[in-house]
Amino acid sequence: MGIQAGRDMRSPIEFRSDNSVGVAPEILAAISEADVGGALGYGGDRWTEQLNEMVRQVFEHPTARVFPVPTGTAANALALSGMTPPWGAVLCHRDAHIITHEGGATSLFAGGAVMSAVSGEGSRVEPERLLATLKGVTWGDPHESQPAVLSLTQPTEAGTVYPVAALKDLSGVAAEFGLTTHIDGARLANAIVTLDCSPADVTWKAGATAVTLGATKNGGMSTDAIVSFDESLSDGLVFRTKRAGHVPSKMRFQSAQLLAYLTDDLWLRLAAASNRAAQRLATGLGLLGVEPLDRPEANILFLSLPPEAVARLEEQNMQFYRIAPGVIRFVTSFKTTDAEVDDALVRFGQALAG
Ligand SMILES: Cc1ncc(COP(=O)(O)O)c(C=O)c1O
Repeated sequence: MGIQAGRDMRSPIEFRSDNSVGVAPEILAAISEADVGGALGYGGDRWTEQLNEMVRQVFEHPTARVFPVPTGTAANALALSGMTPPWGAVLCHRDAHIITHEGGATSLFAGGAVMSAVSGEGSRVEPERLLATLKGVTWGDPHESQPAVLSLTQPTEAGTVYPVAALKDLSGVAAEFGLTTHIDGARLANAIVTLDCSPADVTWKAGATAVTLGATKNGGMSTDAIVSFDESLSDGLVFRTKRAGHVPSKMRFQSAQLLAYLTDDLWLRLAAASNRAAQRLATGLGLLGVEPLDRPEANILFLSLPPEAVARLEEQNMQFYRIAPGVIRFVTSFKTTDAEVDDALVRFGQALAG
């Protein structure tokens, strides 16, 4: 394979995304182990049954139901489609993945419902702004989309985390106006580790009706899932997932991944490794005089660096995303090693020195 002109000969260090890395060995093994004998399709298999039991235990909720779907986008859009009427609005932060990066999937599945942005520092919705938005709605006016759901990303797209009390505040404000709350938990495990709380504390006990579980970014191979805490939402999701073409006949291989993910806290152990790598990177950068734009509370950090330094980092085979002029994003994963972080810090030192 040719080496790009001007590129450093050192091996690449992966910080583009936690979905750029591979699969956790336990999950890969679980897929292989599920390849045994015959099993009913479309979720009628023992792995999916066990997964439902496991989700009820892990989330301490007797009627929780899990719907494995292939992507986080599908989980968000399908869950939200069951939580809003077609004339509804889904309120979310202006940086939320559902509004910026999912091609309007929620509007498609929700029959034309719109997404409406609320702002707040660190990509976190602020309760005062949510309240002001909700007070400004002309309720009952058919000319105006009627807010029906609040969707919160936990951790946020900026790598910040909502404390449990903030989730309760926000879902409480939403509930006063008749809205239910959804959590986009593409990296939910990272938030649980940071908050050192239970999965129940950060979801239904904090007012969430449904959660996108995440998995692909944290060691999964090809699955995400909706966890619904509301039976009538679950009843509808049986049909919604099917009509969207998201009930695979070989669901057992998705369920096997999710079972392994939740077994013996694997998801939390993987997320802890990923969070630790981000902290090590942030601490090392601090020693070099570089402070992330928001305090990293999970596994994502954003930096503002002079364009020449950014170019030099790229030349040194560091892999990351340019987000905006002068702003770059680093994401650590369960696979990021201490040695990689330390090597990255050496390269940062050189890139900053010029
Ligand atoms: C916060 C957040 N939500 C949802 C998604 C969507 O996940 P997927 O790429 O599996 O559709 C992503 C993916 O980047 C994300 O970062």
